[in-house]
Amino acid sequence: MNEPITVSRPFLPPLAELLPLLEDIWQRRWLTNNGRYHQELERALSDYLRVPFLSLFTNGTMPLMVALQALRITGEVITTPYSFVATTHALWWNGAVPVFIDVEEATGNLDPAKIEAAITPRTQAILPVHVYGNPCRTAEIQAIADKYGLKVIYDAAHAFGVEKDGASVSTAGDMATLSFHATKIYNTLEGGALICQDEATKKRIDFLKNFGFANETEVVMPGINGKMDEVRAAYGLIGLKYADASIEKRRQIALRYREHLRDVRGIRVMEDLDGVKHNYAYFPIFIDEAAYRISRDALYEKLKEHNILARRYFYPLISMFSPYRSLDSANPANLPVATQLADSVICLPMFEDLTEKQIERIITAVAG
Ligand SMILES: Cc1ncc(COP(=O)(O)O)c(C=O)c1O
Repeated sequence: MNEPITVSRPFLPPLAELLPLLEDIWQRRWLTNNGRYHQELERALSDYLRVPFLSLFTNGTMPLMVALQALRITGEVITTPYSFVATTHALWWNGAVPVFIDVEEATGNLDPAKIEAAITPRTQAILPVHVYGNPCRTAEIQAIADKYGLKVIYDAAHAFGVEKDGASVSTAGDMATLSFHATKIYNTLEGGALICQDEATKKRIDFLKNFGFANETEVVMPGINGKMDEVRAAYGLIGLKYADASIEKRRQIALRYREHLRDVRGIRVMEDLDGVKHNYAYFPIFIDEAAYRISRDALYEKLKEHNILARRYFYPLISMFSPYRSLDSANPANLPVATQLADSVICLPMFEDLTEKQIERIITAVAG
């Protein structure tokens, strides 16, 4: 049996580069609470991503929760069912009501043409996801938000380093959230960030992620603990030096996959979009069962037999999970495109040190 190929494999920065920073942390014994490496990583990430203000977090779910708190969102929020479940859970934990709308077939992103029909007097915000790192139609979404006075929070967990027309996609909307989970393109083991547009909002976010403390004796809002510690911030500083190289290696793998799979009957691959610098975070393919001759699930099982552990991201739709499926907007008849994507998608292994031999094994199993 061949060795298993997992769908992703975490990047680890060279240990030798990390050790001096760990020794420094051990010596100074400043472990968390806005320490030196935390401050350095906030600066380094703001520069790298070219975003105005960025706050580090302990994971990528907490910034979603804090963004909703910071913008005082408690009503209906128009969102996508085609994402990782944390996107919707964050709404629920804030007492907001998710209103699912359909997505676009080409990108998997929330379809701006469906937003207006879902707006009610209770709508307060839009929460789109740049799924697989494909940028949403941010200008169209913003125009609708402006027309109806809605806030926009982007879940940019997949979009680290993605640019559209030369600007970071994470500058779009009122806020954007990132995840630095172990399986993401750039990781801090667990970690995340919240991007905002002005200093006053960053201050509010930083209060919210530290229990609402303004100083030793004053608590100015009911905050939570969302802080990142010094060890992970130091790890993140070293890892950031390798982010560009990681993205380039993934790009090469995506090109190989596309070259061999785009012409296979019954397989659709996602191509680069005009004006977009992609990050190649995932490599989804979509199976048309009639043309491919076996179903998506049969392919998934076949790959498993070959020890290729592909994953069906994002199946089932979030709207099909038990906490959400009784919502009116969760009716599959309201979400035909998202349903079709969820039923046909399979994400092939994608990580930077995927070997030539492994790529060949995967291509042969899928195309052969
Ligand atoms: C789209 C999306 N949103 C949110 C999250 C949550 O991030 P985390 O796992 O860092 O909490 C993830 C991934 O894990 C994700 O893929």
